[in-house]
Amino acid sequence: MDIEVVALDEANLKTPPTDDFGFGNKFANRMFSQKYSLDKGWHDARIGPYENFSLPPATAVFHYAQEIFEGTKAYRRADGKINLFRPWENMKRFNNSARRMSMPQVDEEEHLSAIIKLIELEHEWVPSAAGASLYIRPTMIGIDPALGVHASKTYLHFVIVGPVGAYFKEGFNPVSVYISDTYRRAVRGGVGDAKTGGNYAASLYVGEQAKQKGYSQVLWLDAIEGRYVEEVGAMNICFVYEGKKIVTPPLTGSILPGITRKSVIDLGRDLGYEVAEEPVDVHEMLADIEQGKVTEVFGCGTAAVIAPVGKFGLKDEEYLINDYKVGPVAKHLYDELTGIQYGRIPDRFNWTLTIDGN
Ligand SMILES: Cc1ncc(COP(=O)(O)O)c(C=O)c1O
Repeated sequence: MDIEVVALDEANLKTPPTDDFGFGNKFANRMFSQKYSLDKGWHDARIGPYENFSLPPATAVFHYAQEIFEGTKAYRRADGKINLFRPWENMKRFNNSARRMSMPQVDEEEHLSAIIKLIELEHEWVPSAAGASLYIRPTMIGIDPALGVHASKTYLHFVIVGPVGAYFKEGFNPVSVYISDTYRRAVRGGVGDAKTGGNYAASLYVGEQAKQKGYSQVLWLDAIEGRYVEEVGAMNICFVYEGKKIVTPPLTGSILPGITRKSVIDLGRDLGYEVAEEPVDVHEMLADIEQGKVTEVFGCGTAAVIAPVGKFGLKDEEYLINDYKVGPVAKHLYDELTGIQYGRIPDRFNWTLTIDGN
């Protein structure tokens, strides 16, 4: 892939923030983009200014939601270099999502090279403040300028990056999660395991209801029996039994195969925990919380890292977990995972890709 690097107008460049990062509302000066058409394949690869698109109102994505995205992060190490965390997994998942949404494949190595080049150009935007990172958002949309329910023949693939702090306002502190017993996120055979915008759009209504009840996230149950735990809004979920065993629901096709989840499974085993991918019956799990058998619950995801769950709500009942405190297993995994991500501890799994930070 030949990437044209467009010179930017130096006078109009934004400077990166050093604190108050928020999440997802600040972006670096440059973005990567390329276009696809049936006759040319992928073409016009460029790193140019972060700028608006001009698309006709009839553009396919606005009507039929043919869209996929990814989320990964770049971490500033103490030695000034930058780590990407398992970016190969994001490239692979992007293509899996593309396949499910009838979109073209992107060469995974070229996609990653384009991201590395963008980060090299925007290295000043990778923050060094504790807990902060550069969020990387690859996206693809169908851009045929016409109505009609069929796969688009033209696509736009772009990558934007921006510095972020903690995903939850709570930081690394427990969050409260509402269990939806009425609405479902995804069903087996649907698109729940693809990272496509519609999954998130469908979750917003329930998310708002949960917020009104004082909860910050929704826990989804399986769509067929409404009985088995699936995942949380933007995280997979793990249960700790008796402080020793970590259980997470299996990948049945309706939940996102999280890269953090996969890492927690490997890391957990390496640290001596018993880790199992097993169906979790919501009623048994809640009874186990009440009886003190479930000692911790935590979500895991790129944005949220490890997010302890302090409380579940179901109908009008509340289930307090570990006295709404961060538990030792969540803390252990958080320290190890972020230690590897930020290069504080050796990467014994070969999960990181280190690039020059300046
Ligand atoms: C629905 C959903 N589940 C799980 C995850 C966690 O996935 P990952 O660890 O790859 O970020 C995410 C975040 O990307 C998500 O949006």
